[in-house]
Amino acid sequence: MSTKVETEIIEAATRARDCALAQFSKFCVGAALEAEDGKIFAGCNIESAAYELTMCAERVTIWKALSEGARKFARIAVVADTERLTPPCGACRQIIWEFCGDIPVVLANLRGDTETLQMAELLPRPFDAKFLEEAGEAEQA
Ligand code: THU
Repeated sequence: MSTKVETEIIEAATRARDCALAQFSKFCVGAALEAEDGKIFAGCNIESAAYELTMCAERVTIWKALSEGARKFARIAVVADTERLTPPCGACRQIIWEFCGDIPVVLANLRGDTETLQMAELLPRPFDAKFLEEAGEAEQA
């Protein structure tokens, strides 16, 4: 069961999933990202015939939010029709961490199962801007 605060983004991600362009994998994913001011951005996966150009739902959603000026985020939801809840792929973990930080990641399926994980659990020991900065400082010392 999801908490009341999670229900709205799970619903937004579920609706976005209906727009998935997953013509090759048939694996439809929706994501929704809540900004600090409560605004919710949502997106779906978009596949390309040149498979590697495919974009996951999470990154589509983050690019939408950032390109509309949002900068701080409260939580992200990922919805797929799988019994085992679908977690963000490695590339999306990197991007969620870099642009959203240590936010809760709400996983959900179409049967009402949910689980909330923290980004720090999903991406321990991240490579990010802070790491680069500290590595540069260490080199100069
Ligand atoms: N996919 C996502 O959109 N998000 C994930 O977290 C996992 C994978 C998409 C990419 C591709 O369109 C399809 O699912 C199969 O990998």
